[in-house]
This record gives sequence, C-alpha cells and structure tokens, in this order.
Amino acid sequence: MQDLLSLIRSRRSIRRFEQRPIARETLLDLIDVARYAPSAANQQPVEYVIADEPNRRARLFDLLAWAAHVRPRRTPDPEHRPVAYIVVLRCTARELGALGPVDAAAAIQTILLAAWSLGIGSCWIGSVDRPRARVLLGVPTSHEIDSVVALGYPAEQPVAENARHEDTAYYLDPADVLHVPKRPLQSLLHVNGFTTPSGR
Ligand SMILES: Cc1cc2nc3c(=O)[nH]c(=O)nc-3n(C[C@H](O)[C@H](O)[C@H](O)COP(=O)(O)O)c2cc1C
Repeated sequence: MQDLLSLIRSRRSIRRFEQRPIARETLLDLIDVARYAPSAANQQPVEYVIADEPNRRARLFDLLAWAAHVRPRRTPDPEHRPVAYIVVLRCTARELGALGPVDAAAAIQTILLAAWSLGIGSCWIGSVDRPRARVLLGVPTSHEIDSVVALGYPAEQPVAENARHEDTAYYLDPADVLHVPKRPLQSLLHVNGFTTPSGR
C-alpha cells in the first residue's frame, strides 16, 4: 500500500471503468471501514445500499449525471460503466441538526480512499435523480439519499495539476486525458490570521 499522503494526493475521480467485478466482500470492507469515520455527536446517521446486480446497476446509471464540465465525454459508455455502486443514505432521525450531510461526506471520503488503496477507482456522484432512485432501491421516507459512489477498476488516469488561474474547471487534453486543476497551497492558506493570499 502507498503511504497515506501519496494515496490521498493520487486519488482522482474515475469515470471510465474496466468491466471486471469487485468482490462483494471488498464492497463490504469499504462500508465497514466507513463505520470508523468521524460523526457529529457520534450519532452515525449514515447507512448504505450496495447495488452490484447488472439490472439494478443499469437502472441506477440512468439516474446519475456525470462530469458536467466535459459532458458528454466523461459520461461512461456501456463498455466502461461502474461495476458497483454504494448508495449513501442518511437516517434523518439520527441526524444532528444540519450536520447529517457532513457525516455523510466524511464517510464517503473514507470509502473513496479505502477503495483507492485497493486499486479501485471511484466517483462521488451528487447529481442523482433522488425521487426515482428512492423508488428503484425501495428507500423508506425515514432516510434521505445523500450521494452515490460509483466504483470499478480504473480505465483512465486523470491527472491533478496546480491551477494556474481562477477557473478550476477540469478539462480534457487532446489525448483525452482528464486534467484536474487544484488551487495552489499559497492561494488558499492564511497563517496566524486571514491574510491576502500571496500566490497567483
Ligand atoms: C459533493 C460532490 C458531488 C459530486 N458530484 C459529482 C457528480 O454528480 N458527477 C460527477 O461526475 N462528479 C461529481 N463529483 C466529483 C467532482 O467532480 C470531483 O471530485 C472534482 O472534479 C475533483 O476531481 P478529483 O475528485 O479527481 O480530485 C462530486 C464531488 C463532490 C465532492
């Protein structure tokens, strides 16, 4: 396994996947580690639905929107679609005020990094047709659909780079490689009080 800092830096959202399956046991491991994520007042409102059966996957895929900045070029074609999904739910009775989505975010990032440590690519999908996904998966009204995590072994290698201007939209180069601009450290860092960023 890579060291943790390299692992965090090298994870990118993946939107093209090999078609080899992810073992159910591995999906369970990803959810099991997410149980250890921080949680406001330790209320743990986050729950999960695995969707890895082909028909369920195909129907869920139709309810997701991919990579708005380069649409439709990173909407996976049928040969590169996710081989599994983890649908992240919030049990509203357990949410501490407005902090439920924050708990979900901590759990989701844990899943993304755990997956990447196993060589599995992922994409966090917030653009979900939630009413239809609720019906498809039989999610009761006691729970909200927070996000969907799409999973599969990567069939693309996006690259992160320091953003050179304010526009941080990801883009495809002529070789069809996805570039993901990240704000440089000096543009977002303030030390001992809020100072004008020195970078850019
Ligand atoms: C809350 C949230 C919602 C997102 N929703 C989508 C989405 O609906 N579709 C998509 O293709 N990517 C989605 N993403 C992935 C982002 O586009 C991606 O994280 C961003 O471009 C940075 O790229 P990176 O993950 O490779 O660092 C989402 C990410 C977050 C954190």
